[in-house]
Amino acid sequence: MRLEYPYRTERFGAVRINELQRVIEIDCGARTYDDQPGPSRVISREALQDIERELAIVVPCMNESRRVIEGVLSGIPHDCLIILVSNSDRSPVDRYDLEIGALEQFCRLADRPALAVHQRDPGLAASFKSAGMPELLDDAGLVHHGKGEAMLVGMALAAMTSRRYVGYIDSDNYVPGAVHEYCKVYAAGLAMTPSPYAMVRISWHSKPKVRDNKLFFSRRGRSSEVTNQFLNRLLAEYSGFGTDAVVTGNAGEHAISLELGMRMRMAGGFAVEPFHFVELFEQFGGVLPTRHAEVMGQGVEVWQVESRNPHFHDNKGDDHVTSMRTQALNVIYHSEICPPGLKEQIVEFLGDQSPPRERIYPAVGTLALDRLYDAITCESETFKQVVQRLPARVRTVTPLQRT
Ligand code: GDD
Repeated sequence: MRLEYPYRTERFGAVRINELQRVIEIDCGARTYDDQPGPSRVISREALQDIERELAIVVPCMNESRRVIEGVLSGIPHDCLIILVSNSDRSPVDRYDLEIGALEQFCRLADRPALAVHQRDPGLAASFKSAGMPELLDDAGLVHHGKGEAMLVGMALAAMTSRRYVGYIDSDNYVPGAVHEYCKVYAAGLAMTPSPYAMVRISWHSKPKVRDNKLFFSRRGRSSEVTNQFLNRLLAEYSGFGTDAVVTGNAGEHAISLELGMRMRMAGGFAVEPFHFVELFEQFGGVLPTRHAEVMGQGVEVWQVESRNPHFHDNKGDDHVTSMRTQALNVIYHSEICPPGLKEQIVEFLGDQSPPRERIYPAVGTLALDRLYDAITCESETFKQVVQRLPARVRTVTPLQRT
């Protein structure tokens, strides 16, 4: 893969936010990895494959079409481990059962392994509770609904397999080639990072829409525009200089090294992606005390990469966009580092409403992963290990202290 070289980097303490890089070539031939600064960065096929063997791809899924899911699976590079976390209806039709059927068939044909679980499985909830995260459960004693919650579950499963990286791909993507490109971009960004603490966020090239019977490739995301604007204002409050560095505030498609991900708290629902930035700034921005001096020493690298493929997905409507935007502003507003002036601007933007608090969960690294694995395999009825040649590698790591 060949990417533009990012010439500008915004700093917030130990967090380096690299300006948007475009994909120049999705495949750059048999070149070797070149880490010299220049007009472009080449990441060799071998370097990408090395990362893919360590990369788990979590696919959050809620009532998406089986055909679309099959396309998504087909776009995930062979060496990545697929982890499906579903919150689909179980009745009157058991859609999870249909999803598992599709996953098993795909894995059989492609000769590859996968993991899957249903988010509302009582056994899964009990497992998280016994592993040390009762906060994830709602009043019914089940894991909360929400995309962020699915992502947290997926990260914990990825960590149990000892893979080093986790990436996320929405299950409503109509274009398998886009899925493939996103995964390649993840691998490229992770390969480019000398620090173990890395995050790669995709800025999609465009979203196709039909207008007047013609395809229109919109460049602007209605939610992202607002989220980015307020995250950039937060950065500017501390640096004293206006910036437009953040362009991926809502990036649903992103990957993260588990060394970093397991140290980060996660937000529920659609607040999850904007909260990544808030959490990075809070923990590693140098404004608040950190528990992770080791991260401060090496720094956190955030890559933002614009894909070549358009993002062609299911349109869930205006209310959905408004809710996503509000959830983003809520987490910025409630951050300990959000200055009063910015809070006022957020309240004003929201029409003088006081922003509610989103659910914020402890870092996955605080879970007792060995206990989680034992509990999930014993208690969760929906947990599936689609085994072709899955090495049952379970990691036993000492849980991190809670922040
Ligand atoms: N397991 C699970 N649980 N999956 C969910 C849930 C849930 O509660 N809610 C949504 N999903 C799945 C959907 O099935 C879809 O595959 C994916 O998560 C994204 O949800 P959408 O509802 O389709 O969101 P979107 O496409 O409007 O927004 C996406 O793009 C935004 C940026 O443009 C999401 O990825 C957002 O998180 C992102 O900010």
